[in-house]
Amino acid sequence: MIRIGARTGDVRHVAADVLVHFVFEEWQKSPDDVDALRTLTGGDLLTEGGTGFAGRERETLLLFPRNLSTARLLLVGAGARGTWSRERLRRAGAASAKAVRGMGLRTAAFTEPGRKVTAALAAGRGEDPAEAYGCALAEGILLGLYRYDKYQTKKNPAPDLLRSISFMTESPSREKGIARGIGFASLVCESTCLARDLENAPGNEIYPESLAAIARSAGRRSGFHVRVLDERNIRSLGMGGLLGVARGSRRPPRLLVMEYRGGRTGRHRGARGKPPVVLVGKGVTFDSGGISIKPSAGMAEMKMDMSGGAVVIATMQAAARLKLPLHLVGIVPAAENLPGGAALRPGDILRHHNGMTSEVDNTDAEGRLILADALSYAGRYDPAIVIDIATLTGAVVVALGHVATGMMGNDTEAMRLLKESGERTYERVWELPMFEEYDGLIKSEIADVKNTGGRWAGAITAAMFLRRFTGRYGWVHLDIAGTSIIEDPTDYTPRGGSGVGVRLLIDFLRRRGAR
Ligand code: BES
Ligand code: MN
Ligand code: ZN
Repeated sequence: MIRIGARTGDVRHVAADVLVHFVFEEWQKSPDDVDALRTLTGGDLLTEGGTGFAGRERETLLLFPRNLSTARLLLVGAGARGTWSRERLRRAGAASAKAVRGMGLRTAAFTEPGRKVTAALAAGRGEDPAEAYGCALAEGILLGLYRYDKYQTKKNPAPDLLRSISFMTESPSREKGIARGIGFASLVCESTCLARDLENAPGNEIYPESLAAIARSAGRRSGFHVRVLDERNIRSLGMGGLLGVARGSRRPPRLLVMEYRGGRTGRHRGARGKPPVVLVGKGVTFDSGGISIKPSAGMAEMKMDMSGGAVVIATMQAAARLKLPLHLVGIVPAAENLPGGAALRPGDILRHHNGMTSEVDNTDAEGRLILADALSYAGRYDPAIVIDIATLTGAVVVALGHVATGMMGNDTEAMRLLKESGERTYERVWELPMFEEYDGLIKSEIADVKNTGGRWAGAITAAMFLRRFTGRYGWVHLDIAGTSIIEDPTDYTPRGGSGVGVRLLIDFLRRRGAR
């Protein structure tokens, strides 16, 4: 992985293959911007003009000025100055890093934009603008450079030679802040990329047992506890939903239970006794639909139906590596949904962990069946809050597209915080209502509840189903079906699994704990 660091010094004398400099639209109108460019180019760009470079987002211009120690100067468009934001910085970082990698270079240094501009990046009160700058820029770079190419024996496109990047600054105190931001971003992005790797990995690599093994090794490396319950344990817990969904597959189900007790020693004594935050992630390692089988077109995407589980594992890892002062539990019910001679049938009735029964109207509504058991099981931790995260419905994609995660729940304070975290991380969430009328749609004539709600409000009826299995705790449900599985790449999110949820949840946990 690439190394990113902060450094104090004069950008004209830095040793790197390329110096990257952000340029805003209408830079000619800002004396500071003109000055900065004149220093870097020796005035060439200003006098010659006619390059057509306007500073628009994603625009780049490569120059070879004589007065720099670096052979190359890469100007990268930063867009309109007035609306500069963390998100725009992430995008500019990603565009820069991809351009530098594309040129086959090994090292790069970034100039620091003026203080007036970076001041706008500190969104919250008491936040350090230098830290916000280092964090957002590093996030854009690290997430933008991500590629899933482990199965390409002939790497295509060109191999990645980029090894190290410096964020330059003129003051040692800003260097410290920038370095803190980089440090945080590195840990969180490493975990986001772990989630992406798990999502993008094919179903023949990731199945319940192998997912459990990966959680185990992540726990060993990063310092959280992992317990894996096998089929027998799952049966004795009465988890009929998890067993039912797994029945059609040769791969047996697993229940992953992870626990991190932060701050047991030192300053944050006492986190141990606090009621935990419990994260629950849908871990369907492949969703064929089962007997209610899906059409073949696009079915391959359903290798990513364990995204929620991947995000929970990755968030446990990030929380542990960041040493967040909190008690965190992660629960991932993992199963493969296949048709077969032993498979669950439409019409079957299952008995869940809390004793309630569900009528399986459609075997493709399997996520809620396994989450039902996990949500009920979560009650044993007497949680402060339970957040489940799942690629649960196609209906949420119809409602919100690939832009926002659907959010439902009963804990308004947590939902407010999550919405803020969504804006800060740009992993945005949007609340859908849980009006009582929707509950009527999942009534069963024969069991306590039915696993489908008919044609309308599919994302909501799925949440209404989950709600039946929640205990006496605050609860939020995040439906990431649209935001986790990406068809059209954007600046720092390539096609495939996005890892959405890791940055969101870590920001939420951090700020929730800080209150
Ligand atoms: N994993 C799917 C939901 C999904 C769809 C995720 C598209 C990502 C992209 C889920 O298990 C499912 O099949 N849901 C059904 C529910 C229906 C049968 C009530 C759906 O959304 O069609
Ligand atoms: Mn399904
Ligand atoms: Zn599914």
